[in-house]
Amino acid sequence: MAAETDPVKLMKQEVGRQAAARVQSNTVIGLGTGSTTAYAIQFIGERLAAGEVTNVKGVPTSFQASVLAKRYGIPLTTLDEVETIDLAIDGADEVDPQMNLTKGGGAAHTREKIVDGLARQFIVVVDSSKLVDQLGTTFALPVEVLPLAVAPVTKALEALGGKTDLRMGVKKDGPVITDQGNMVLDVTFGAIANPAELEKIINNIPGVLENGLFIGLATEVLVGEVKDGQVKVRSL
Ligand code: 5RP
Repeated sequence: MAAETDPVKLMKQEVGRQAAARVQSNTVIGLGTGSTTAYAIQFIGERLAAGEVTNVKGVPTSFQASVLAKRYGIPLTTLDEVETIDLAIDGADEVDPQMNLTKGGGAAHTREKIVDGLARQFIVVVDSSKLVDQLGTTFALPVEVLPLAVAPVTKALEALGGKTDLRMGVKKDGPVITDQGNMVLDVTFGAIANPAELEKIINNIPGVLENGLFIGLATEVLVGEVKDGQVKVRSL
């Protein structure tokens, strides 16, 4: 395979590699969703194949994560079968200085919050473009909604000051349907002053499954950046 040259992909690749290096034998790993976590899944698979680690099982957060885990030879398990998740590795769309996150760019935030929230350690893997002073400034907040409740939830989110957009498919007419069969409203609030409060308020609207605010869950953030033409990874 040709060596990667795109700087953003290189950053993602390197943080993925370093997150995968944290995986130990005899552990259960939460496998996140997205292009950065995809590298982590690949490198975990390569470490298993090389015998560097053994008896590692993954709990996927999406159909995409489970396809990648199978491709790279990571045995899968479910939340019915494991007592605990030792480490979750997942991407993010925004990271604030308190390591609070906006997630859901891949519409997988409902399962991601369940898995990442159960993990004893949750490592977030991002490139430096994801770092923000305040959540909501660069990315609209994804909210997963039961299809029958899209109209009333839209009204409730707009009453909270959000501008809503029903997420539409790419190369598919009509809305994006999540792995759970629901729809996603992307809600622009601008800078979110109190993300912990907004997370709860939105989840209290009948018909909302989950929103993409991940508050107080991350234990470490690995940030890939390019300095002097070199890819570096630092830990927050
Ligand atoms: C999926 C997510 C992703 O982790 C998030 O969108 C980041 O993705 P990427 O690593 O491709 O930038 O929350 O629901």
